[in-house]
Amino acid sequence: MAGSKKKFYYTVAKVLHWIAGFIIAFNLLSGWRLGGFELEHRVILLMIHSGIGVTIFGLMLLRWWWRRRNNLYTPPRWWKRPSMLLQWIFYPLLLIQPLLGVALASVIDYEVRAFGLINFSALAADDKAMEQLAFQLHGGLALLLIVLVLVHGIERSRKAFTND
Ligand code: HEM
Repeated sequence: MAGSKKKFYYTVAKVLHWIAGFIIAFNLLSGWRLGGFELEHRVILLMIHSGIGVTIFGLMLLRWWWRRRNNLYTPPRWWKRPSMLLQWIFYPLLLIQPLLGVALASVIDYEVRAFGLINFSALAADDKAMEQLAFQLHGGLALLLIVLVLVHGIERSRKAFTND
């Protein structure tokens, strides 16, 4: 009984992992294209980009809570395993990235409304210097995340093939 419950908890964790992974990859890959669109279209695309970003934030909190509540993925001395540390690093980074996006949206000189509903532009006045800073941090962290996702993917595939 306890075993089948644990199995269910892991199944939920895996489903959440793949949903999050899919939309994170979407934002990481499509974000770079946004600047190339006319403002009229960029505003519409940013409704999707920022909405997905907010969803990622919520999903990461949910995943974090689910792992801790059900004591998942905690082999003995897990903090000494680079692969486990890498998994944990994603959580704070994927909470910071949407917050940087919100900071950027609040000072950028056009309207950013997540899913057309949450108006992040209303949070603060336009500010060119802050916009540049937030833009660099948001783009820089996106690059770091791409590298980490690649390392994570390589590490997981190596594990799957070598079975160690
Ligand atoms: C994990 C979530 C997110 C990821 C992975 C992500 C990724 C990216 C990437 C890769 C870029 C392009 C950066 C560049 O060109 O240097 C970008 C741009 C941007 N993102 Fe995000 N983002 C996320 C969440 C958000 C959120 C929540 C918001 C707003 C509430 C947001 C607002 C923006 C804005 C305003 C831009 C600039 C678009 C432009 O070029 O005019 N992002 N994002």
